Amino acid sequence: MKFLHLSILAIACVSYTVASILKRDFSTTIFTPPSSYQVPRTLYARSLMLTVNDASGTLLSTWENYSGGVTWFPIYRSSNHGQTWSPLSKVTDQVNGWGLRYQPILYELKQDLGGYKAGSILLAGNSIPADLSATKIDLYISTDKGLTWKFLSHIAEGGEADPVNGKTPVWEPFLMVYNNQLHCYYSDQRDPKHGQKLVHQSTSDLKAWSSVVDDVTDSDYTARPGMPTIAQMGNGKYIMTFEYCGTRNCDVYYKITTDPTSWDNVAPTQLIARDGTAPYSSPFITWTPIGAQSGSSGAKTANGTVVANAYSDGSLYVNKQNGDPNAWTRISTSSPGQYSRSLAVGFNPKDIVIVGGGALNGNNNVVSLYARDVNGCSYCT
Ligand SMILES: *[C@@H]1O[C@H](CO)[C@@H](O)[C@H](O)[C@H]1NC(C)=O
Ligand SMILES: *[C@@H]1O[C@H](CO)[C@@H](O)[C@H](O)[C@H]1NC(C)=O
Repeated sequence: MKFLHLSILAIACVSYTVASILKRDFSTTIFTPPSSYQVPRTLYARSLMLTVNDASGTLLSTWENYSGGVTWFPIYRSSNHGQTWSPLSKVTDQVNGWGLRYQPILYELKQDLGGYKAGSILLAGNSIPADLSATKIDLYISTDKGLTWKFLSHIAEGGEADPVNGKTPVWEPFLMVYNNQLHCYYSDQRDPKHGQKLVHQSTSDLKAWSSVVDDVTDSDYTARPGMPTIAQMGNGKYIMTFEYCGTRNCDVYYKITTDPTSWDNVAPTQLIARDGTAPYSSPFITWTPIGAQSGSSGAKTANGTVVANAYSDGSLYVNKQNGDPNAWTRISTSSPGQYSRSLAVGFNPKDIVIVGGGALNGNNNVVSLYARDVNGCSYCT
């Protein structure tokens, strides 16, 4: 509310800025669920901009669809940089008979891998039966830009989908290719030494997965680091954000490493903005090559801009110094805080695409997109 007020002031005062703000920063609804869906109806939305053999910046989106029964991940597409959306396909469970229920992530292969061409689209998500009695992180692929989907492999298998210490589910996959392997990062409750920890597994052929490697562990059993997402920064290093639940209020923490298959020995740093704000719960991170301090030309700089967010507010947290702990600036957006809303770099790399599915237990959730220019900063502080 406070920030909405500020942006209205800026619009009222500076007419030149008005046009550019309105043009660059826009929002739209991707999908409105019928009221017959089970609350929260939609949640945990993700987006992907296609860049391989696609010069027009096609966007795909998917989310958790709370309709009951054997669920699937809907795939919607926008061919005009997110202004309008229509249904394209759905990713259905082809192997477990359970449905694809929670925590989808989309990823485009930028290189050939495992016998699949660059431009193939991967989706990982949590297959869970309607009674929530088991969890499986499964991998699917589309070789036709999202139209049809094929099961590839089971990545990890866990127990009941209940985020309580002592239960053994797996959660929240995130995909990234590094060094000719696909890596799947996720939250893991199966280790009796940890209420929850963050781990990854790797594959060269998209089918056979390595054993589990620890990424974030805590000697206190009750700690629950969760929801890993990763971006490569301007200096080539990788940054992973996660929520630190159980012992630390779900505050957002991050680690930085040169080798994204090796995190466990890096000490976590809390993300605290220069204005003192400490965001918490279900963060997401991305990076854009844009990084000018002022003006709207969209100049690229060596560092570019690291961009993070969290459920605790609608802001973006930007860092133009490769994740330096003293260089996080909070900038407003018109998005409300939404549970695990995703960030992606838009067609114009100064536009960050924020796609969310609403609030935990929200009664009025829709899937929405907010585009936020992180370069011009006409009304950032
Ligand atoms: C969500 O699931 C319900 C029933 O399983 C289905 O009728 C509906 O079409 C799905 N929504 C989308 C957007 O796919
Ligand atoms: C780029 O990041 C480094 C830290 O990695 C920092 O020292 C430097 O000031 C940054 N450059 C700019 C232009 O902000």
